[in-house]
Amino acid sequence: QLYQKGVKHLSENVVAKLPKKYIWPVSERPNNATKGEVPYTFKSNLNLPIIDFAELEGSNRSQILKALANACEHYGCFQVVNHGIPCDVTSSMMDVGKRFFELPFEEREKYMTSNMHSPVRYGTSFNQSKDRVFSWRDFLKFMCHPLSDMLPHWPSSPMDFRKLAVAYVNETKHLFLMLMEAIVESLGLAITNNNITRQDNDNILEELKDGSQLMVVNFYPPCPEPHLTLGMPPHSDYGFLTLLLQDEVEGLQIQFQEKWVTVQPIPGSFVINVGDHLEIFSNGRYKSVLHRAIVNSTRPRISVASLHSVPVTTTIRPCPKLTTETNPRRYMDTDFATFLEYASSSEPKKKNFLESRK
Ligand code: SIN
Ligand code: FE2
Repeated sequence: QLYQKGVKHLSENVVAKLPKKYIWPVSERPNNATKGEVPYTFKSNLNLPIIDFAELEGSNRSQILKALANACEHYGCFQVVNHGIPCDVTSSMMDVGKRFFELPFEEREKYMTSNMHSPVRYGTSFNQSKDRVFSWRDFLKFMCHPLSDMLPHWPSSPMDFRKLAVAYVNETKHLFLMLMEAIVESLGLAITNNNITRQDNDNILEELKDGSQLMVVNFYPPCPEPHLTLGMPPHSDYGFLTLLLQDEVEGLQIQFQEKWVTVQPIPGSFVINVGDHLEIFSNGRYKSVLHRAIVNSTRPRISVASLHSVPVTTTIRPCPKLTTETNPRRYMDTDFATFLEYASSSEPKKKNFLESRK
């Protein structure tokens, strides 16, 4: 099957017209686009909250924490600048990700599997064994925890892949933990001198240290008819936070006040998405953000998403401290493994599942 080789293959070998398999129902196509026009010309004046990470450590911390709380409540999303991850670490990850997609198909194909539990998985669309309509995306996913067990499974080509990805994985894990420390504090869960008050935050920070981390490199080649398709269908991420690195090409959209709005890339910054597990942990105060990717006809786009949560053996539940008589518990206990099954099948299924746990 031609489609199973992915969209990079299609964009290089066919096509002036988008194959039928990729044509989304009218109601789900990128809006604000007319035929032939690049859909991302739609500009919104939404300013996604920007968190200056360096300021978190300064005398402005309480102010920044308020901004953080506001972003997580009303957007489910924010951008982080001055995050402290060296520029060569982020740019090398983007670069080696790009070089992976430039390898001959036979090399990439080695990692193709329908097994969701495989430590490394190369594929196309969202879930190519289940999707009825395909998305214009190829991806490489690799699990990162525990690192020493996962590393031998990662691609060995390009030659410097593992070395560069390890550096990136370690840096993003560290940033994730720092962000979670701030988020836990922003929820009003006490932290004293960086020592966690156990009973207050349910020891969540300790659990997250040993938590799961999944890396997803997304590649969106130029698409002949971008107004008819999506790079990634609408979804929310399952974990606590996703740290998303994108190049300078627009494509990420979030749903804000029931409209799709494009997130303007800030080179070198991270877009941070609130995931379902943080929504549950916060008992619904922080909202996981619905987002999607659109594509264009001229420029390839790359993004790298780092998804973080607790260990996969953990039960996801609202933090007891955040449920009170006036704000009763809104979600049932759910084990992470079950959650993942739904998250990997389809967004509507996961949504239904999440709703049923309320
Ligand atoms: C994602 O949702 O993980 C990726 C979206 C993007 O490519 O910007
Ligand atoms: Fe996502």
